[in-house]
Amino acid sequence: MGMSRRTILTSLSLIGLLRPIKSLAKETAMMNSEAIEQNLINSQSSNEFWFWVKQSFTVSPSILNLNNGGVSPQPKSVQDAFVRYNQISNEGPAYFMWRILDQGREPIRKKLAQLAGCSPEEIAINRNTTEGMDTIIYGLDLKEGDEVVLAKQDYPNVINAWNFRELRDKIKLVWVNLTLPSEDKDYLVQSYVSKFTSRTRVVNLTHMINWNGQILPIKEIAEEARRRGIYVLVDGAHTFAHIDFKIPELGCDFFATSLHKWLCAPFGTGMLYIRKELIKQIPPLFPNDNPYSEDIRKFESLGTRSFPAEMAIADALNFNDLIGIARKEERLRNLKNYWVEKLKRLPSVKILTPLKKGFSCGLGIFSIDGKKPEEISDYLFTKHKIFTVAINWENIHGVRITPHIYTSESDLDRFADAIAEYVKS
Ligand SMILES: Cc1ncc(COP(=O)(O)O)c(C=O)c1O
Repeated sequence: MGMSRRTILTSLSLIGLLRPIKSLAKETAMMNSEAIEQNLINSQSSNEFWFWVKQSFTVSPSILNLNNGGVSPQPKSVQDAFVRYNQISNEGPAYFMWRILDQGREPIRKKLAQLAGCSPEEIAINRNTTEGMDTIIYGLDLKEGDEVVLAKQDYPNVINAWNFRELRDKIKLVWVNLTLPSEDKDYLVQSYVSKFTSRTRVVNLTHMINWNGQILPIKEIAEEARRRGIYVLVDGAHTFAHIDFKIPELGCDFFATSLHKWLCAPFGTGMLYIRKELIKQIPPLFPNDNPYSEDIRKFESLGTRSFPAEMAIADALNFNDLIGIARKEERLRNLKNYWVEKLKRLPSVKILTPLKKGFSCGLGIFSIDGKKPEEISDYLFTKHKIFTVAINWENIHGVRITPHIYTSESDLDRFADAIAEYVKS
């Protein structure tokens, strides 16, 4: 499981560590992944380390992908594991998937719980954020007239699910319309809290808003909500394995995320956290034989799904461990700051993402006066083969730029030069 010792050694020798590789091999054989990570931290300059990370991916040299916010590529070690597990499965699917590979699920749950900072008994492994959010949105026992506070800037799938509950069950949706970017914690908290009434049952929060990278002060909003007995549901699609936090610190009741985003796990893998005491209240979308049980595994009666994808989550977790979440967050924030610093000097460019630490990280958005977002992103792709995404959602209009850990400063120079040329023309 994880990066094979051979892969690690090849990578280390590639970047020329100071110590002879033979003695390193001997040491490495005795090391666990934490010790290997420590060795990397101690032995290399930051540039060498991030070069090694870049080499661990297989991204196309033909395009520069700055839309990693959509979905992440997987490191080679994860892709290889996926292929391996698929081949094993095909030797006899019912036997190898259900009797052999399936045994990997509990260790993965434990490892996910370690990164999330909660009990494994609070983690269900599923396919994506949408599934996790819908599990809660449809699972909560809400009656006609019950109120749910949510924002116009939430994710469309989530909004659609709440709209459907309103239509079907006559609950009342109470909308927050955020003016973003904001580095004003009080404003953000009050935008939600001012909507709470005695009928409010749920507040729906997006931890990092996908349109512009805004991070919401979940902890402060959750404190106000829970004091009033309001459930706190968090869409964490963009924060898990991106920023350094533990789910219980947020004080939320439910947290859904996709592992194919910042964790770089196989496509179609996700995770749902439910605070232990609440598990029994939420029946699964796909019921098992005891929908009101206290066992988080009741949310995993999904029918046949991709075992190779699910099992290779472990390899993505190992790769993530090797980098370390604190260092990953710092790198992602630095990359955002790097391109922002270059663009913000250009006339007519506006940065629509908050820059203060705690309010954003790796995902950012900019606009150019007089230009439509799609004109800018079309120019970037047609002329420079730089792939980005134009955002036009509610009051947010711009081009979203999402580097990832494999993106280099010189990649971002290329992007910034392209925008400088565009602004001049
Ligand atoms: C904030 C947010 N929530 C939910 C989702 C849905 O994620 P998935 O398609 O993995 O279910 C996304 C996807 O980009 C997102 O940005």
